[in-house]
Amino acid sequence: MAVSSVSRPQSRRLSSLPSVQALMIQLAALGLAALAWLLLARSGFALAPLAAAFLQGALAAMLSRWRGQAAWWHLIHFLFLPAALAMLALQLPPWLFLATFLAMLALYWSTFRTQVPFYASGSAAWDAVAMELPKRPLRIIDIGSGLGGLALNIAARRPDCKVTGIELAPLPWLASRLRPGGSVNCRFLRGDYQALDFADYDVVFAYLSPAAMPQLWAKARAEMRPGALLLSHEFIVPDTAPQIRRPTRPGGPMLYGWQM
Ligand SMILES: C[S@@+](CC[C@H](N)C(=O)[O-])C[C@H]1O[C@@H](n2cnc3c(N)ncnc32)[C@H](O)[C@@H]1O
Repeated sequence: MAVSSVSRPQSRRLSSLPSVQALMIQLAALGLAALAWLLLARSGFALAPLAAAFLQGALAAMLSRWRGQAAWWHLIHFLFLPAALAMLALQLPPWLFLATFLAMLALYWSTFRTQVPFYASGSAAWDAVAMELPKRPLRIIDIGSGLGGLALNIAARRPDCKVTGIELAPLPWLASRLRPGGSVNCRFLRGDYQALDFADYDVVFAYLSPAAMPQLWAKARAEMRPGALLLSHEFIVPDTAPQIRRPTRPGGPMLYGWQM
C-alpha cells in the first residue's frame, strides 16, 4: 500500500461554520448571563452557580434559534454549561479531559469545518457499490475513507481495479493503513479530497453528510470525465435526480449514483 499526503485547500469563511457560530453564541450568552448575574447581585439577589448556568443556557438557546441554527443546536446550547458544571462536580482527574479531547481530535479532526463526522458504512453498502461498478478496470476512490472497510472490500472483490481511500482524520486513516487484508491494488492517502483532481478517477464513492453534497456535486461536475460515476451512500444531491437508486437492504439507506 502506498501512502502520501495531500495538501489542504482553502477553507470556507470561518464565521459561516455552524461550530464557529455556536462558539460565538456561547460567548455572547455568557456575557449576557454574567451581566444579569451582576445586576441581580447588586440588588441583593445571589444567583446559585447552577441557576446561572441554566440562565446562560436559556439565553444561548434563544440566540441559537434567532441565528437560525439547526434545532439540535438549541438543546446543546441549553445544556452545555450546566453539563460542564456537573462534570466539574465529579472531580475527575484533569488528564482524563485532555486524553478524551485528544482521542476526539484524532477521530473527528476537522468535523467542525467539514460537517462530516466519522461513521462507518457496512457490508450492505459495499455489496450495493460492487453491484453498480462497471465491468472493466477502474480507478475508484472513497472520499472520506474512514476505517477503510469499503476500499479494502472493493479492492479484494475487484483485483482488476485500483482503489484509493482518502481520509482527513489521522486516527481512522492510521487504522485503515494498519488493517490486515490490504492488497497491492488498494492504497490510503491522508488528506482532503477537495485537493484531489476527480478527473483521475472513474468512480468516486462518497459517504459524507447532507451539508457536504452541494459542494461535492459542483466539484464532480467540474472535474469528473464524461462517463465517470459518482456514487453516494445515503445522501442525495439537492435538486439533482440520480440515475441510480439502489436500496442497500430492504428499508435501509439508498445508494445513489450520477453518471457524468
Ligand atoms: C461517514 S464517514 C464514511 C467512512 C467510509 N467512507 C465508510 O464508508 O465507512 C466520512 C469520513 O469522511 C471524512 N472526511 C470528511 N471530510 C473529508 C475531506 N474533506 N477529505 C477527506 N476525508 C474527509 C471524515 O473524517 C469521516 O471519516
